[in-house]
Amino acid sequence: MRSVYCGEVNESHIGQEVTLCGWVNRRRDLGAVIFLDLRDREGIVQVVYDPDFPEVLEKANTLRNEFCVQVKGKVRARPEGQVNKDMATGAIEVLGLELNILNKAAPLPLTLDDHQKNSEEQRLKYRYLDLRRPEMTERLRFRAKVTSAVRESLEAQGFMDIETPILTAATPEGARDYLVPSRTHKGNFFALPQSPQLFKQLLMMSGMERYYQIVKCFRDEDLRADRQPEFTQIDIETSFMTADQVMEVTETMIRDLFTKLLNVDLGDFPRMSYAEAMTRYGSDKPDLRNPLELVDVADILKDVEFKVFSGPANDEKGRVAVICVPGGAEKFSRKNIDEYGKFVGIYGAKGLAWMKVNDRAAGMEGIQSPILKFLPEDVVNGLLERTNAQSGDIIFFGADNYTVVTEAMGALRLKLGEDLDIVSDEWKPLWVVDFPMFEEVDGHMHALHHPFTAPSELTAEELEANPIGALSNAYDMVLNGCELGGGSVRIHDQAMQAAVFRILGISDEEAEEKFGFLLEALRYGTPPHAGLAFGLDRLVMLMTGATSIRDVMAFPKTTTAACPLTNAPGKANPAQLAELGVEIVAQEQKSEE
Ligand code: AMO
Ligand code: AMP
Repeated sequence: MRSVYCGEVNESHIGQEVTLCGWVNRRRDLGAVIFLDLRDREGIVQVVYDPDFPEVLEKANTLRNEFCVQVKGKVRARPEGQVNKDMATGAIEVLGLELNILNKAAPLPLTLDDHQKNSEEQRLKYRYLDLRRPEMTERLRFRAKVTSAVRESLEAQGFMDIETPILTAATPEGARDYLVPSRTHKGNFFALPQSPQLFKQLLMMSGMERYYQIVKCFRDEDLRADRQPEFTQIDIETSFMTADQVMEVTETMIRDLFTKLLNVDLGDFPRMSYAEAMTRYGSDKPDLRNPLELVDVADILKDVEFKVFSGPANDEKGRVAVICVPGGAEKFSRKNIDEYGKFVGIYGAKGLAWMKVNDRAAGMEGIQSPILKFLPEDVVNGLLERTNAQSGDIIFFGADNYTVVTEAMGALRLKLGEDLDIVSDEWKPLWVVDFPMFEEVDGHMHALHHPFTAPSELTAEELEANPIGALSNAYDMVLNGCELGGGSVRIHDQAMQAAVFRILGISDEEAEEKFGFLLEALRYGTPPHAGLAFGLDRLVMLMTGATSIRDVMAFPKTTTAACPLTNAPGKANPAQLAELGVEIVAQEQKSEE
């Protein structure tokens, strides 16, 4: 139906007749002539209807925004002075000779040229219209380029694309499962995969050596800008490769993507231990574009009479850390400081003590702080020295248990970075390594990565003797404060896998029931194997400068995990439920419980 895309008409077509198909982006009626901006996937071109062709002019007069049309016309250079340098097709225009209205459009429920006016709910409800916006089209196009480049890069390195089941058994990745009832096995459920973790390990046991898949994963968890219930991983597994080799292969892939698609050289990725990341940045995914750092000061505050500080400073589970903000003494009013106090409260901090260094040369006289009365001069000097605070700086204090201080000050660091606009405009990738194997939450042990991750250089006995101190052979790739991907060397030894299950409080019976197939598979010559998975949505979000992964997905869900377009999740009809052997507990009944 078309001879050329709107966005691709150029000076080489001058004098030629072209057939275009697309949507009326805008119609300008200048009395005698009508200008149309005609849009298709590739861009916009200007079509002119003039009085020399009165019949088409009359027809063009009936056009409204978003009508779908076919236009035949002759390409000509724009008259001098009307060339639009900001437009790819700005040097030419198409003189409209024929017009075929393929379909009319009712007035749109969305504003396409000022999308800020649309609520996100509206945008998702009318997603097919929202995607007509060139910005959105461009993101999807970019995403397609990423997946294509990923395939090219991995296939060149001998990786095989293998599909794994969607209807499967639960894979523990730390979120809730989406369950699917089975009709043929009433009372039983499939789980949608949180990742293909176990299948990709089984594929290594099958001798596939290098597997990859661009695959949907499903996790029922609290949603955020970078989390969706259904998202896509670039999932990778290899046999006979060390952690270093997996990092090298995958780092090369990401570096190549950035060079190819953005012309950006990411350089080599520094490696940082989990412990260092938590200490200096209060996060296991540090944003290295932000120059602020946490500084530990417990040793300086052990003997002060202010219990808020000396308590945690003397408690081995406590932490006292500060952030020194250059120029903050002048910039921050009491109101600002109170707001930051409230902000850290979200993370459980009970307060946010502060100290303004108005004039460092003036000693105690130059310091302003509500807690100054509790701090002897040598302590103040120690703090100034440790933080290298200068006149005009402010120091914020966090004192509490380790987790609260780390999380609260880590979050404060990010907020200060944003508020002060000091986050540099660079790409800052890194690997975070040496994670602990386990963390203890409410007396229960959890795997920090997942239960199939191998410990670093420990036997099963050594691991069981001291699980909390053990480090894992896991690695996360972090870019600009976003966890792009994570992986690990896997356990390929049955005794070790059984030991990890025991540490996690999974009984032998439960392990047998849930992962019996894995434990059995480990008995038949399992090769050493390791892998990693990237979040494709996050990668595309970062590369396109989008602020949410929803903006790089064609049909995402809302933050309450619903789809306003299809109204999913919806009610099932009673016959279907009966067939599945599923009964719904009435909502009222539930709230009375
Ligand atoms: P992990 O759970 O770290 O590892 O997930 C890997 C990557 O997937 C992305 N991701 C998400 N993206 C969007 N929405 C979500 N809800 C979401 N959850 C995770 C992140 C994350 O880094 N099987 C292991 C990988 C392995 O060990 O090989 C796994 O799934 O970018
Ligand atoms: P208070 O003695 O509770 O009035 O607190 C004095 C100052 O210490 C105030 O600025 C509080 O915000 C701050 N503060 C209180 N608890 C903490 C804490 N756990 N960490 C850091 N600062 C705190």
